[in-house]
Amino acid sequence: MTQDTDDAAQHDRPPGAGCPAGGGAVRLTELAGGEAMSEVYERLRARHGAVAPVLLDGDVPAWLVLGYAELCHVTWRSDLFARDPARWNQWHRIPPDWPLLPFVAYQADSSRRSAVVGEVLEQVDGFELERICREVAGDLIARFAHHGRAELMSAYAHALPLLALVRMCGMRPDDDGAAELLDDLRIGLDIEAEGNSAEAFLRIDRRIRAVVARKRSRPAPDIVSRLLGHAVRLSDDEVVAGVVTVIGFAQEPTAHWIGNTVHLLLTDDRFAVKVLGGRLSVDEALNEVLWLNSPSQNLLGRWAIRDTVLAGRTVRAGDCLVLGIAAANSDPRVLAEAPAAESNRAHLAFGNGTNRCPYPATLLADIIARTAVEALLERLPDIALATDPDALRWRPSAWVRGLTALPVEFTPDGPSARRA
Ligand code: HEM
Repeated sequence: MTQDTDDAAQHDRPPGAGCPAGGGAVRLTELAGGEAMSEVYERLRARHGAVAPVLLDGDVPAWLVLGYAELCHVTWRSDLFARDPARWNQWHRIPPDWPLLPFVAYQADSSRRSAVVGEVLEQVDGFELERICREVAGDLIARFAHHGRAELMSAYAHALPLLALVRMCGMRPDDDGAAELLDDLRIGLDIEAEGNSAEAFLRIDRRIRAVVARKRSRPAPDIVSRLLGHAVRLSDDEVVAGVVTVIGFAQEPTAHWIGNTVHLLLTDDRFAVKVLGGRLSVDEALNEVLWLNSPSQNLLGRWAIRDTVLAGRTVRAGDCLVLGIAAANSDPRVLAEAPAAESNRAHLAFGNGTNRCPYPATLLADIIARTAVEALLERLPDIALATDPDALRWRPSAWVRGLTALPVEFTPDGPSARRA
């Protein structure tokens, strides 16, 4: 899995020049989707220390920050590292169809919009969101409860956060095309999905623009209207970008937070005995996933503002740093002191520093994921995996950690039916 790129690293500065390991960069795509990612990161740590040279798609060089302390340093020191891709010293190597371009491009000029989005999310009523999530969960489960089997990722985990968010945005799930939105988000944001991502973004833009126009004339207590009514007076373009950011950032990680938690509950004996015991075990599982199997694995990124030294590496102005969230969470220097299963919330799954997932968003994510998992266990108490755990497949992505499918079985319409 390690590609010997010593020559490339020496000629392609940065990263590579000044690199004490003398190259040995790993292609990030080759880290993708394995069973035990912590072992992969451990090997990288053993070879390179807390900051490793890596290659992004198209062999574009970057640094992967693997250490917990180093990742905190990079995300707190906004005077040294900015979420500002305009600083990148590798733009000359980036073709217009570079697969990671959408993840980089959206970050430009986003600080005004991000601040407003954070404020607006703070106004969302958590009780109302929980009520909506319960309703959506009930509707979704009712569609498959009588079958006795389901593929939970598509039938539940992906659909629930999207439907809840669409309703919090004041959209009408059917009229505003929630199902099509989900498909387009997958094509647009998921680089493994087939389809033309530029066209998918155009359709997303058109759909949300129509909602924005409607809310301009008829505001209501929802996210879109609040973005429109904010005192900074965002333009329609900024509001559309804000809504895409909220839904785009929320849907996929929350879906995989739900999926990875259900997976943990159904495959780990520590939880199996406690699943029916109440919400404590669900809370523990949700927290453990954010430490040890976080949906956010690696994050692109930060860009060095000036030459600096990080974990003994010379990082040049304009170098790109990938935030190794999963690696940092499993940093032995931290895990040794902070067992993940306890109520320690110092994981980095939501990012860190100024550009982290906004605090109100993390509370909303928690409501959506917890309600989804609890509703599932309440309604289908004997739910079990319908396949050998080893047959489950993780998405082949270096960025997102989640299952491609989660087949489950249960007594159709509840346990009483099976007993009868
Ligand atoms: C209701 C659910 C969620 C909402 C509404 C939400 C919203 C957001 C927003 C608005 C941003 C900032 C984007 C920007 O400033 O450009 C963000 C960033 C982020 N979110 Fe969330 N999010 C949700 C769930 C999650 C979950 C479940 C995770 C992972 C477990 C997550 C991880 C992150 C991370 C790592 C960032 C930082 C990105 C960066 O530094 O570039 N989010 N989120």
